[in-house]
Amino acid sequence: MTSKIAVIGAGYVGLTTGACFSHLGHDVICADIVPEKVERLSKGDVPIHEAGLTELVVEGIESGRLSFMLGAKNAVAEADFVYLCVPTPQSADGSADLSYLQDAAAEISAHLKAGAVVVNKSTVPVGSTRLVEQAMKRSDIPVVSNPEFLREGTAVADFLNPDRVVIGSDDQAAAGRVAALYLGVRAPIMVTDPASAETCKYAANAFLATKLSFTNAIAAVCEAVGADVNDVLLGMGYDHRIGHEFLRPGPGWGGSCFPKDSRAIISIAEDHGYDFALMRGVVTVNDEQFDRIVRKVGSVTQLEGATIAMLGLAFKAGTDDTRESPALAVASRLVAAGATVQGYDPAVTSVDMDGLEVVADAYAACEGANALVIATEWDDFKWLDLDKIADSMAEKHIVDARNLLDRGAVRRRGFSYQGVGRS
Ligand code: UDX
Repeated sequence: MTSKIAVIGAGYVGLTTGACFSHLGHDVICADIVPEKVERLSKGDVPIHEAGLTELVVEGIESGRLSFMLGAKNAVAEADFVYLCVPTPQSADGSADLSYLQDAAAEISAHLKAGAVVVNKSTVPVGSTRLVEQAMKRSDIPVVSNPEFLREGTAVADFLNPDRVVIGSDDQAAAGRVAALYLGVRAPIMVTDPASAETCKYAANAFLATKLSFTNAIAAVCEAVGADVNDVLLGMGYDHRIGHEFLRPGPGWGGSCFPKDSRAIISIAEDHGYDFALMRGVVTVNDEQFDRIVRKVGSVTQLEGATIAMLGLAFKAGTDDTRESPALAVASRLVAAGATVQGYDPAVTSVDMDGLEVVADAYAACEGANALVIATEWDDFKWLDLDKIADSMAEKHIVDARNLLDRGAVRRRGFSYQGVGRS
C-alpha cells in the first residue's frame, strides 16, 4: 500500500530514507532548512557521496514520488508518516544535543493531520521518544522509534537489504503501520518498546566499536609477542560466534556515529547510575591507537620539522566524510609534534587544519616527505607506483596504518615498513 511520507532533514540518513521509501513505492517529501540544498536536490543533484543514492533520487523525482521542500511544516500537512531525521550532535558534556529534534517536533505539531504517525530515526538517548511527544503536545499522534543502521557509503544497500528493522512503540497499531512501510524489504522486523529500540541502536554501535578497539588492542599484543595480527584474526573469525567482519585493525575508528554514540552511551549510563567502564576503556584504546600510529612515525623520523605524506583523509574508504576521521586525529598529532602534513584523498578536496595541506594526488603528497602514512583504506593506494614514490621522498619510510600495501614489494624498494599488528 502506498503511503504519504514526509522526511524532516535531508542529510545522509534522511535523504537515504526518503529516496529508498520512494523506491519502495511510497510518496515522499523531504524537507530541509537549507535553501540551496533543497534547490540542488530538486534537480537530482545529490550533495553527498553515497553509492546508488543519486540514481534513486533521480528515479523518485522522475516518477513523481519524491520531492523536496524548504521547511518542515510545509512538508507534513498531507503526511501519513513523518520521519524525523535531524542531527543529534554531541554537546560539550558528551551527551546528545536534542534541540534540533525538539524544534522539529514543535514546528510540525500543529500541521499534522489526524491519524499521522511521527517516527524518529535520529539517534537519540533513551527516553527521547517521550521528549518528542512532549515537544509536540499532541496526545492523538503516536511517536514511534525506528533507529537507522546505515553505514556511510553503503547506506542505500543497508536500507533496502537490512539485517533487521527495529521499531519501538507502546502503540501496537502505530508500530504495525510503520512495519507495513517496509513491505518489499526482506528482513526480520522486530517490534519492541521505545526504550529498547533506542538502546538497541546505541548498543549495536557500541559493540562494533568495542570489537574494533579489541582488534586494535590485539594488534598491539601481536606486535609485542611477534605474532601476525592478520593470521590471529583470521583464526579467530572462523569461530562463527566471532565472525570475520569488523576485525580489520587500523589507525582507530571514527566517523559521524561511533565516536558520538560511544560517548553518548557512556553518558546515558552515567546519568542512570551505571559506570560503563568497559566502554570508557574502548574509547581510551581508540585514542591510544592514534598515538600509537604517531609513535610509529616518530620511531623512523624526527617529527619536529618533518614533512609527512598522508594518503587518505576520510574516516574510511568510500566516503568524503572527514568527521572524527582517524586520519585527521593522527595528522593533528603529527602537526602538534612539529611536522607538516601533505595529505591526499580521492574524495576529500579540503580540510581546515593548520599544518595540513591537501594536495592534488598521491605522488604530490609523497614529494620530499620524510615518511608516508597510509591512513584510509582506499583501493587506489594499493596500485601506486612505488618506484616513483621512492624516488620522490626525502626518506623512505612507510607506516601502513591499514595493512593495505604489499609489504614485500614495499621493502624490496628499500622502504622501511611498519603495519599494524605485524612486522
Ligand atoms: C556505523 C555503523 O556501522 C552503522 O551501522 C551505523 O548506523 C552508523 O555508524 P559508519 O559510521 O558509516 O557506520 O562506518 P563503519 O563502516 O561502521 O566504520 C566505522 C569506523 O570503523 C571507520 O573509521 C572504519 O574505518 C573503522 N573500521 C571498520 C575499522 O577500522 N576496521 C573494520 O574492520 C571496520
